[in-house]
Amino acid sequence: MSQMYNEIVMDHFQNPRNMGRIENAEMLIQVGDPGCGDSVLIFMKIDEEVLTDIKYKVYGCGAAIATSSMGSELVKGKTLDQLLEFKAKEISAALGGLPVEKEHCSNLIASALHAGVAEYRKNRNDPDKQPLPERKELLSEEDLQKKAEN
Ligand code: FES
Repeated sequence: MSQMYNEIVMDHFQNPRNMGRIENAEMLIQVGDPGCGDSVLIFMKIDEEVLTDIKYKVYGCGAAIATSSMGSELVKGKTLDQLLEFKAKEISAALGGLPVEKEHCSNLIASALHAGVAEYRKNRNDPDKQPLPERKELLSEEDLQKKAEN
């Protein structure tokens, strides 16, 4: 694997930044890639339209881990509007590039961010909705772990 990835990618794969969970996150959402079955669960702390913190659990390939790590570094402090403009290719550029067959892996965290902002805005305007964490955790973490191991 190390021959396939550059040093920056290897560093983020071996020492992922911001991995974990946030208690009392304003937004919790899981997004999967139906093509490969990998998925990411992100926790977003949002204050006055700004993403003040992000953590994630990722169940996927080395590039999915590295891009989630770099993506989380790049988006902290962005406004929700900026997040909607954020592109997966910004992650691969910051990583110094990914092998062509791994380019799509950066879509995982970028899609989760876009979906998270959309859900957050939708639910914020509907006071009858259930609290998000319970509604949005589609699979338990144990289920996700089992899925990743299979
Ligand atoms: S192969 Fe699925 S995210 Fe990398």
